[in-house]
Amino acid sequence: MANAEELMRATVRRIVPYSPGKSSAEVMADLGIEKVTKLASNENPIGPSPRVIEAMCEAASEAHIYPDPQCVELTDALADMLGVDPATVVVGRGSDEVIHMLGLAFVDPGDSIVFSVPPFAVYPYTARLMDAEEVTIPHRGFRHDLEAMADAIDETTGLVFISNPYNPTGTIMTAEEIDAFMSRVPDTCIVVFDEAYFEYADAPDYPDTLAYVREGRRCAVLRTFSKVYALAGLRVGYGAAPVDITNALKQVREPFNVASMAQVAALAALHDREHVERCVAVNREGREFLYAQIGQMGLDYVPTQANFVFVDVGMDSVECFDALMRRGVTVRTGDIFGLPTFIRVTIGTREQNETFVTALRETLAARGSRPGPR
Ligand SMILES: Cc1ncc(COP(=O)(O)O)c(C=O)c1O
Repeated sequence: MANAEELMRATVRRIVPYSPGKSSAEVMADLGIEKVTKLASNENPIGPSPRVIEAMCEAASEAHIYPDPQCVELTDALADMLGVDPATVVVGRGSDEVIHMLGLAFVDPGDSIVFSVPPFAVYPYTARLMDAEEVTIPHRGFRHDLEAMADAIDETTGLVFISNPYNPTGTIMTAEEIDAFMSRVPDTCIVVFDEAYFEYADAPDYPDTLAYVREGRRCAVLRTFSKVYALAGLRVGYGAAPVDITNALKQVREPFNVASMAQVAALAALHDREHVERCVAVNREGREFLYAQIGQMGLDYVPTQANFVFVDVGMDSVECFDALMRRGVTVRTGDIFGLPTFIRVTIGTREQNETFVTALRETLAARGSRPGPR
């Protein structure tokens, strides 16, 4: 009997399954510890608004009914908040699913997808799934090299991904830089502004990409409920794009793609602006605290506009990860991003940040006292 590998589409063999790293439960079981401070996945440490929990409890008794396939109420509320027509908004099972829909709708085999390296993992995944060519542009000083990205666009290009703020470094591209880039992009491809972390960005020159959507430019703006709204476990994200693009996405969207509980929670989260503001404020305080502590350790970091910091720990990031994990803290290693002395740490609550700082200090001290070459 043929092995499934032989039956598989050739392009699927190129896909490396997403590796989330060890779960907190695994770490606790392996090390026999009772608590893990998880700062590995850029989740919101505050958790959902109490209003969201209340709304979900109320909605629980309706779980036997299929969800609204068009997410009408949520779409209308989003459109209202964004100042766009509801027809230009599409809701997905996380912004991951909207990226997937963009691939399904707009990328033919042999087309190319342009993105920076290191990339957010779902961009190469989408390229491989669609049998597209990955056109990868090295980061320049931890930022997107928009000139090189514009140079790389040709008639085969289906999508261009720009995560802004950039995961994993936390940098942003400014309004002026994005404008200059957009003036070079032909209308044969779609520019995807992946703004999963935009609510955290406080730089005055952060671009208003929704203006391009309102102008009907070939672009899509993606945002999510997984970060500042603290609903990562429910999987809700959305895209705003000119109506011909959203219509195409609706053609490939699975029926009932967003669970009813997720729709209800997202709607309630959207209405609790105070909670959002609190989450942003806690993140900002945590960022300043981490900058100060990391600076005191003599380490370099990339100033961030998101809810994570990319830190050069000056040692092998996998070794650093292991040492932190033994102290009950998980982060992301930079080796997967091609930057092997960096770690990406999510900004947590004050208590979590202190736990991380103590663990990192101990890790560096233990390494410093070890004899032999470093
Ligand atoms: C840059 C970027 N885009 C998109 C996402 C996906 O978010 P979602 O949970 O909405 O699928 C993430 C999640 O970490 C991200 O970092």
